[in-house]
Amino acid sequence: MKLIKGGRVIDPANNIDRITDILIDDSGRIQRVGDYDAEDSCEDVIDAEGKVVAPGFVDVHVHFRDPGLTYKEDIETGARAAAAGGYTTVICMANTKPPVDSVEILTELTEREKQLPIHVLQTANVTLSMQGRELTDMDALHSAGAVGFTDDGVPIADEKLMVKALAKCKELDVPISLHEEDPSLMFSAGVNKGPVSEKLGLGGAPDEAEYVLAARDILLNRKTGAKLDIQHISSGVTVDVIRAAKKSGIKVYGEVTPQHLSATEDLVLTKGALAKVNPPLRTEEDRQALIRGLADGTIDMIATDHAPHSSEEKSKPVSEAPSGMIGLETALGLVITHTVRTGQLSLAQIIKALTINPAKLYKLNAGTLSEGAPADMVIFDPEEQWTVPDHFVSKACNSPFIDMKLYGKVKATICGGNVVFRDN
Ligand code: DOR
Ligand code: ZN
Repeated sequence: MKLIKGGRVIDPANNIDRITDILIDDSGRIQRVGDYDAEDSCEDVIDAEGKVVAPGFVDVHVHFRDPGLTYKEDIETGARAAAAGGYTTVICMANTKPPVDSVEILTELTEREKQLPIHVLQTANVTLSMQGRELTDMDALHSAGAVGFTDDGVPIADEKLMVKALAKCKELDVPISLHEEDPSLMFSAGVNKGPVSEKLGLGGAPDEAEYVLAARDILLNRKTGAKLDIQHISSGVTVDVIRAAKKSGIKVYGEVTPQHLSATEDLVLTKGALAKVNPPLRTEEDRQALIRGLADGTIDMIATDHAPHSSEEKSKPVSEAPSGMIGLETALGLVITHTVRTGQLSLAQIIKALTINPAKLYKLNAGTLSEGAPADMVIFDPEEQWTVPDHFVSKACNSPFIDMKLYGKVKATICGGNVVFRDN
């Protein structure tokens, strides 16, 4: 048996926030949450005094680039980066090379994903080759283990096709997660349309490209009621749209990334292509609206959109470099520094958005510290300050947050009762 001793246990699913112990049995499950003095009966005692103990984080949005683009990341390095960030479950996007649009590619991946130290789950594509023309065999992909459907990276323009996809996802009771940027409203990707894009001589990506397409898909889901997940929300107006939709009874969920909660378009001026991301970092007003959206439950989940690229790719000019940044190892620090320490969100609120909310949407046996649940947990120090290094457990280092000082450091990650990461 393992004992996690004297930590501040925060488990929003069970409304727990108190200093106590957690006992893990030999099958890797939580045996007990409560004070435990028979330390001698445990072969491993982890001292968590002064630290927070929470359910392992669940990220519904990562890019592990496997198969085909493994010079950026692969499922093994991605899983280790996730563990270093406090994650015990992640869901991989399907914009790989080839994309995950067939049972054959899906099965090859899921077989390998079973061997990893944390739970790595897989989505499949909504459309064949992510071309937005023809649906994949969603029944077969679902039976073969796809936990959700997405063409993330590429918005789906065709409305009739979207209606069909929503209906199929409703029937299968799986989330459909959508990248909302209407190509016909875009001038260039990755940088907000405004003073910064102008200064750089770029067309820019306006916020209406996001909120108009999000509003369309939300309204298309009105009659269907699928589990519609709006990915990486970046605009305050999109938050308003989702708030109104939820109020009127439309089924919709929202993701926000740590980077959109922490930074604005100005970061592109100092960090160049490293801060280029789709949808782009926007204004301070948008950032504040995203935080309020999380606070009032309009936005359900914090998801990283961990998007590794090579140094070579990211050293190109902003106009040519690919969009995206890594996020797993900086997520907790960014969110604590920019939303908790500012007094806007509580630790319980961010933990909820990092654990039970995503677990519920995907019907995962994760996200809580209930007795009998898998012993998936993270131990972190919310007060420890650290400087983001220029190398990561991830294969990639495309982070605009390198050299920044953050509060909140992951000390250990436990998955199925095994220590899968420890900070030395
Ligand atoms: O910036 C992004 N990069 N946004 C996405 O949605 C996709 C991602 C990628 O795959 O690189
Ligand atoms: Zn993505």
